Amino acid sequence: MCGIIGITGRVDAVDGIVAGLKRLEYRGYDSAGVVTGDGRALRIVKRAGKLENLTGALAEQADGALSASTGIGHTRWATHGAPNDRNAHPHTDPDGRVAVVHNGIVENYQQLKSSLGDVRFASETDSEVVAHLVARHLDEADAPDLLTAVRRVVADLKGAYSLCLVSRDEPDTIVVAKHEAPLIVAHADGVGYCASDVAALIAHTRDVSALLDGQIARITPDGVEVVDVDGAPAKPHDYHVSWDLEAAEKQGYEHFMLKEIFEQPQAVHDTLLDRHRPDAGGGSPRLRLDELRIDERDLARIDKVFILACGTSLHAGMVGKLAIEHWAGIPVDVEVASEFRYRDPIVDKNTLVIAISQSGETVDTIAAASHARDQRSPVVSLVNVVGSTLAREADGVLYTHAGPEVAVASTKAFTTQIVGCLLLGLYLAQVRGRMYATETADILSRLQQIPDALEEVLGLDAEITALAERYTDVDYTMFIGRHSGLPIAMEGALKLKEISYLHAEAFPAGEMKHGPIALIEPGSLVIALAPAGHVFAKMVSNIQEVRARGASVLAIGTADSAAELKDHADHVLALPEPPHELAGPVLSVVPLQLFSYRVATLRGEDVDQPRNLAKTVTVE
Ligand code: M6R
Repeated sequence: MCGIIGITGRVDAVDGIVAGLKRLEYRGYDSAGVVTGDGRALRIVKRAGKLENLTGALAEQADGALSASTGIGHTRWATHGAPNDRNAHPHTDPDGRVAVVHNGIVENYQQLKSSLGDVRFASETDSEVVAHLVARHLDEADAPDLLTAVRRVVADLKGAYSLCLVSRDEPDTIVVAKHEAPLIVAHADGVGYCASDVAALIAHTRDVSALLDGQIARITPDGVEVVDVDGAPAKPHDYHVSWDLEAAEKQGYEHFMLKEIFEQPQAVHDTLLDRHRPDAGGGSPRLRLDELRIDERDLARIDKVFILACGTSLHAGMVGKLAIEHWAGIPVDVEVASEFRYRDPIVDKNTLVIAISQSGETVDTIAAASHARDQRSPVVSLVNVVGSTLAREADGVLYTHAGPEVAVASTKAFTTQIVGCLLLGLYLAQVRGRMYATETADILSRLQQIPDALEEVLGLDAEITALAERYTDVDYTMFIGRHSGLPIAMEGALKLKEISYLHAEAFPAGEMKHGPIALIEPGSLVIALAPAGHVFAKMVSNIQEVRARGASVLAIGTADSAAELKDHADHVLALPEPPHELAGPVLSVVPLQLFSYRVATLRGEDVDQPRNLAKTVTVE
C-alpha cells in the first residue's frame, strides 16, 4: 500500500511525478504529496484526499515555485494517523533538511521516537521519525552523505518499508531503501527513477531493476548505485517489462474494471498459450510449465499441498484445490495467508505450497510462503506481476500473463489464476503418472475453448445490466453455490461488497439450513450458482428452499441446466456449457463481475477506487 515515485534529471520533475502518481493511485488514495529541492530549500505540497486535490493545489502555486529537476511523490493508504493534510507524505525533520516518503510500517517507531529525546513531531505517522533520524545522522562528526545516513538509519528500523528520501544539501540525489515492500529503480536517457511499481515508469523505460530486501540505492541523473546496509555493492533483480504503456491505459472504457473484465478472453488465451508441446529434442507433447523450476522427481514425492492466498486470489485457490485433488489425487488445504504462520502448520519437504497473488507483493502471502520455505517446503508462486517479490522468492513460478490489472477489484487476474490452478493440477497429475498423456492432451485442448466461451458470456452484458437496474437498491444479497460454484459465490459476494458497499455474503448452499437461511425474508436477493453437473439437483432444492421464504432468485446456469432452472428461479442467466466442469468457474464469475460493476456504477460509486481499499496490500 502507498505508492512512491522519485525522478531526478528531468527539466521539470513535478509533471513526471504527478503522472507517475496517477498510475500508482490504485495503491492508496487517502492523500498525496510531492517535494522538490533546488539546493537551497525543500518545497512540499501535500493534500488529503485523492490525487486531484494535490493537482489542484499544485496548480495554485506561483509559476515555477516547485520546478526542479529532482523530486519525490507519494500516494497514501493510511495506517498510522488519520488521512489528513498533516499526516500526508512527504515528512521532514524539524529543520526541513531531509524529506521522506514511505510505504510500509516502521514497527519500532515509538521506540525510535523516544530515542530522539524531546522532539516535536508534526504528524502522527510512523514514517516521520525516519526523516528526523536521517537528519541526526547527517550531523555526525564524519559528515556522512545522504546514502550513508540512510544506511545507518535502516540498520535500526524494524518492520516493512520502502523509503525514498531527498536532502536539501544534495540537490540531484534520491536515496531509496527496501525491506519487504516493493521498490523499482531505473535509469534512462540521463534520468534516474524509482517507483513502487513499474506502471509508474512504463512511460519512460521498460528496463528496470527491483531492489531486493536490505538494498539501498543512490539515484542520480548519472545512474543508479545499489549497496547493502554495510555499503558494499549489491545486485538488484534486473528485468524487462513485456507490456507497454497502452496496456496500462483505459483505452476508451469508462473504468479500468470494465476494461479488465472485457480483456478476459485474451488474458486466458495468453495464460494457456504454448503450454502443451514437445521438448527441444522432440518427442511427444507434454504439458510444460517452464518457469516451475522444481524437479519433477520432487513433485512426484509431494504428499500434501497448501494453497495460500488472500481475497480474490484465495477464491481462485479454492478452485485449485478441487482441480489438484481431482486430477492429481493429493490432499489440499486452502488457507487465508494471514493466518498461516501464526499457528503451527504441519509442513515439510514433502509439502508443496502454492502461493497465489496477482501483485506478488501481498505481504501476508509473502510471509506465509517464506514461513513454509523455512520448513523446507518447496513453494510455487502463481503470480501475475513479473519480477515481483513472490515470483522471485519462490522456488518456482507460474505466471498468469493477464497483463497489468489496475482496478482495485480483481477480475482478469482471478480468471487467469483459476486457469493457472487447472494447469498446476494437470501438471501434478502428469508428473505423478495419474493420467494418460492422451487424457491430459484432451483436457488441455478443451481448455482452449474457454476464450470463445468467455466472449459469449460477455455478450450477456445488456441482460445483466437490466438485472442490475432492478436490484440496485437491494439491502442484502446472498450468494450460494456448491462444489466449484462455492468459490464463485464467495467471489461474487466480495465483488459486490467491495465496489458497491452493499451487504453481501456467500454460503455453501448446503449450509443454509444450518443457520443462514434465517436471514432470508421477502425482498432478499439470492444469487445461485447452478451449472449442470453432479450437484445440480441439490442446488435446485436449495433454490426452492430460499424461494419458499420469499427471496428473489437469480440463477447462474449453463446451457444444459437453464431450462429446468426457469421453473425455479425469478431470473436465469444461461451461460455456455464449459469445456470441462472444473473450467466452469472461469465463465460463471463473469456475470457476477458485470453485475457488481453495473450495480456500483448505477449507485454512483467510484468503481476503480473503492473506499478504504488499495490494490496491493503491503501491510499485515
Ligand atoms: O495481489 P493479490 O492477489 O495478492 O491481492 C490479494 C487481495 O488483496 C486481492 O485479491 C483483493 O481481495 C482484490 N482486490 C479483491 O478484488
